[in-house]
Amino acid sequence: MNQLQVRNLSFKYFNAQKWILKDFSFLAENGDIVAVKGSSGSGKTTLLNILCSVIPKVIKGEFNGQISVDAEDLENLSLPQIAPTISLLMQEPEYQLFFPTVEQELAFAPENLKINPRQIQQKISQALAELNTESLRYLQTASLSYGQKKLVTFASILTLSPDVFLLDEPFAGISKEMIQTIKNVILELAQSEKIIFIVDHSEIFVKSANKLIDMDRLNVT
Ligand SMILES: Nc1ncnc2c1ncn2[C@@H]1O[C@H](COP(=O)(O)OP(=O)(O)O)[C@@H](O)[C@H]1O
Ligand SMILES: [Mg+2]
Repeated sequence: MNQLQVRNLSFKYFNAQKWILKDFSFLAENGDIVAVKGSSGSGKTTLLNILCSVIPKVIKGEFNGQISVDAEDLENLSLPQIAPTISLLMQEPEYQLFFPTVEQELAFAPENLKINPRQIQQKISQALAELNTESLRYLQTASLSYGQKKLVTFASILTLSPDVFLLDEPFAGISKEMIQTIKNVILELAQSEKIIFIVDHSEIFVKSANKLIDMDRLNVT
């Protein structure tokens, strides 16, 4: 993938008063790090859900506009087709963990892609090593702290190696040292031509991004 293009996007939840996006257009290309900032409730999570098509495919509302990857309109693809290419790290990791152990959790996505077991083991090791979290591999997911759960869901996305990473507050609940590790991983992903959107409420990463979407400054009258 070379481009993720948003054209004339408008969105409002049913029964809500205000539009979250109104006629919003944006282009992200290979290697872009896009910081998404804005106050609580400004629509950062909503934007990420739109970019991976969870809105409008699962969560409904008044939706207009188009999102395309290269020339392909997301409307014509199913969520299982989109998810390995445009992967979301959810704000709440609880909703993204399904298995008793970390290793089972990390095996799930590559198993779905029919990758052979030896390669899956390699992908798991690699993802955990990148995030400096090998020690979590054989732990029970229920025993993890909030920050550790975030790291595991991030590792799970790394096993997929998607073209677009949508990271919803990846630094929340993460220790100072781990924040630096994650920052480095994100910079390396950008260098390897990935597209990264990063919701950064506390503006830890805004300066390192090359594009910015400020949800508080969009024209949504
Ligand atoms: N599923 C939903 N249905 C209706 N309203 C929602 C839903 N999800 C979020 N909202 C509302 O949309 C606005 C934006 O929410 P959100 O995207 O979560 O903001 P942020 O991530 O910037 O804090 C808020 O007013 C929130 O209450
Ligand atoms: Mg949010």
